[in-house]
Amino acid sequence: MADSLGEPSLDALVAHYYALGDFTRKASSYIASYRSLLEGKRNESLRLLELGVSSGASLLVWRDYLPRATIVGIDLADPPPRILRQDRIHFVQGSQGDAAVLERAAEVAGGPFDVIIDDASHIGYLTKRSLQYLFPRHLVPGGLYVIEDFGTGFLPAYPDGTTFEEPDWNDAVEGSTIFRSSQHGMVGVVKQLVEPLVQELSTGTKPYLAISRLTIETNIAFIEKSMQPGRPAPMLPEKADWDAGRDAGALTEDLLRRHEARIGRLEQQMNTLRTVLGPVRRLWQLGRRLRG
Ligand SMILES: C[S@@+](CC[C@H](N)C(=O)[O-])C[C@H]1O[C@@H](n2cnc3c(N)ncnc32)[C@H](O)[C@@H]1O
Repeated sequence: MADSLGEPSLDALVAHYYALGDFTRKASSYIASYRSLLEGKRNESLRLLELGVSSGASLLVWRDYLPRATIVGIDLADPPPRILRQDRIHFVQGSQGDAAVLERAAEVAGGPFDVIIDDASHIGYLTKRSLQYLFPRHLVPGGLYVIEDFGTGFLPAYPDGTTFEEPDWNDAVEGSTIFRSSQHGMVGVVKQLVEPLVQELSTGTKPYLAISRLTIETNIAFIEKSMQPGRPAPMLPEKADWDAGRDAGALTEDLLRRHEARIGRLEQQMNTLRTVLGPVRRLWQLGRRLRG
């Protein structure tokens, strides 16, 4: 499937590179939003960073969709062979919470990124570390920063996920002026973006996250960087200091390491399964078509 100019469409590339049933496949609603944001820039020499590589499908999609772009991926796990020695694709191994790893990705790209997509740990404080580090330092003015799958904040399997509970505000009660909802994890990170968005208007001081537009859609947030510079970003605390200082007591460093390793292992098992089951499933579908 190609568009009117004969270039492959984003949907076709997604269908081509992700195996059937791949649970890391980007939702069709995400693809529609990416299309409307990136379609007009397809032939620009963009730099795109994706945190979280898994099977490498998304890096291949971006590489083909943006034929002049430089694509960089970061992952804790080993790189999937299909992205090695590929034209315009680079891989940096390490954690999204590690400033040295993020710095290396920017070096490899050869300049600031136009688009940064976080589809890695889906743990609030790691998500926030990457955002705090990359957004002010390594995203161009007018650039786009995307946080995918923030709804994992409502999955108890995640270290900072909690079961969704309908907030207990009651607008029918006179004088109910406190609007309670989730304060922590992935959902907390997204909600916290409201303050920098209106900081200058409210106080006259610039935030270091200079946001011009925040678009929150189901499970995905698009954060556009202002053309005006923010104030200089504070240094990211050493990961250990951050761990010691944060208030989410249940999130021990050890628990997070195990979770990171668990996600990495799960993804690798899924890749193996995908390789084995892909052809079986295609044969089964062919048989079904032939039968009827
Ligand atoms: C949802 S998958 C990425 C899917 C990929 N973006 C795509 O669309 O094809 C999440 C990936 O994040 C990686 N990951 C988990 N924790 C991480 C961390 N702290 N830093 C970097 N990568 C991490 C996992 O190893 C896994 O490969």
